[in-house]
Amino acid sequence: MARMPFTSPPYSAVSESRAINKGGFKMRKDFGKKTWFYPLPVLIVGSYDENGKADAMNAAWGGIYDQDHVILCLSANHKTTQNIKASGAFTVSFADLAHLVEADYGGLVSANDVGDKLEKAGFHATRSLLVDAPVIEELPMTLECRLVKVNEDGKLIGEIINVSADESILN
Ligand SMILES: Cc1cc2nc3c(=O)[nH]c(=O)nc-3n(C[C@H](O)[C@H](O)[C@H](O)COP(=O)(O)O)c2cc1C
Repeated sequence: MARMPFTSPPYSAVSESRAINKGGFKMRKDFGKKTWFYPLPVLIVGSYDENGKADAMNAAWGGIYDQDHVILCLSANHKTTQNIKASGAFTVSFADLAHLVEADYGGLVSANDVGDKLEKAGFHATRSLLVDAPVIEELPMTLECRLVKVNEDGKLIGEIINVSADESILN
């Protein structure tokens, strides 16, 4: 017998059906279409501008794209986006609790407005040996990436060339 195509019911119908099925079941609550994905790391994307000045910004919208690539969804007007398109490289580190304040600054302030953003944030950078992008010294794990593609919708795809980790997180 031919398989019937699955048509997803409208959100209101799903909610109503959950309400009817209350008795004896552990209830779930529906929130509709959200960009919720937990746990969600805060990525710190490092890049160099045209003068070799390091920048670092927060990105929640990004992650693994396939076996050795990452994807970033960055607004076109960010300094980071312009840097990556020009340099062809970026790094991805992960904000940790110990650097909450520094990481937060990276998401609130743009290097388009504050030239020494990285220093103001309290981060220090050294150049990756493999790609033209900064490694943020305070953050213990970093993906060093080469930009391979800008998708038609503006998403940046980078190949992971190396992962470096501080000894403090290796045991
Ligand atoms: C928690 C957090 C997550 C963010 N995620 C993104 C993101 O995924 N994409 C994006 O374009 N901007 C994101 N932003 C905003 C940028 O980090 C912010 O605009 C930053 O100032 C850009 O810096 P830049 O212009 O120096 O590159 C996020 C901000 C915060 C605080």
